[in-house]
Amino acid sequence: MSKLVIANFKMNGSKEFIENWAKDFHEEKESNKTIIVALPSLYLSNFKDSNFNLAGQNVSNQSSGAFTSQLSAQMLKDCGAEYCLIGHSEARQYLMETNENIKQKFDQLAQESIQQVLCIGEPLEIKEASKTTDYLLEQLELLSSDQENIIIAYEPIWAIGTGLTPEIEDIQLAVDCIRGRFNKSIKVLYGGSVNSSNAANISAKTDIDGLLVGGASLNPKEFAKIAQLC
Ligand code: 13P
Repeated sequence: MSKLVIANFKMNGSKEFIENWAKDFHEEKESNKTIIVALPSLYLSNFKDSNFNLAGQNVSNQSSGAFTSQLSAQMLKDCGAEYCLIGHSEARQYLMETNENIKQKFDQLAQESIQQVLCIGEPLEIKEASKTTDYLLEQLELLSSDQENIIIAYEPIWAIGTGLTPEIEDIQLAVDCIRGRFNKSIKVLYGGSVNSSNAANISAKTDIDGLLVGGASLNPKEFAKIAQLC
């Protein structure tokens, strides 16, 4: 089964940047991975390149109505998104999202048949207190253990944008904990300071189903290399 490699542009890019990004990506050797690009939602409709699958970076927990500034799952679908990130730690932090909001978002996406990519991960103090697995299980509390077709991205908060990554054994421990929470087979990705120097090691030494890449994905050639190495 082909691994998933997701580029999360976060709040970066422009129309021109995204066009050039795709061209430069294609100049690198192709990989046989499923490549997903989580663009700022405004740019989803403009991005017409069938080599990539599109993802939203967030979605409203409501389906429509008086929710100024928000985007519904239906709108994302209309603009070509087949996947959507939810629960990213930056959204949890800056938009005060709770596990309950995130579960509502999960359900909204399910109604539109958009594949959820649920991001979870512990802050540094939790890691230092050796409570990571408890913390992850708490973040998954509202999901049924019979849930099918889930993609969970394990992104330790302290590893995001810091250049730090967990020990391989710690990634595997988190992955095992996440898989063990569900009765069905699910996909688990790793994210947090992934680059072309560490992608192969993380990918080969754990049983992750792919990678979620932030900063390094903004460089298309670097991202294409990560996709080859994953
Ligand atoms: P970095 O790859 O920049 O650490 O970001 C990870 C991330 O948040 C992807 O969603």
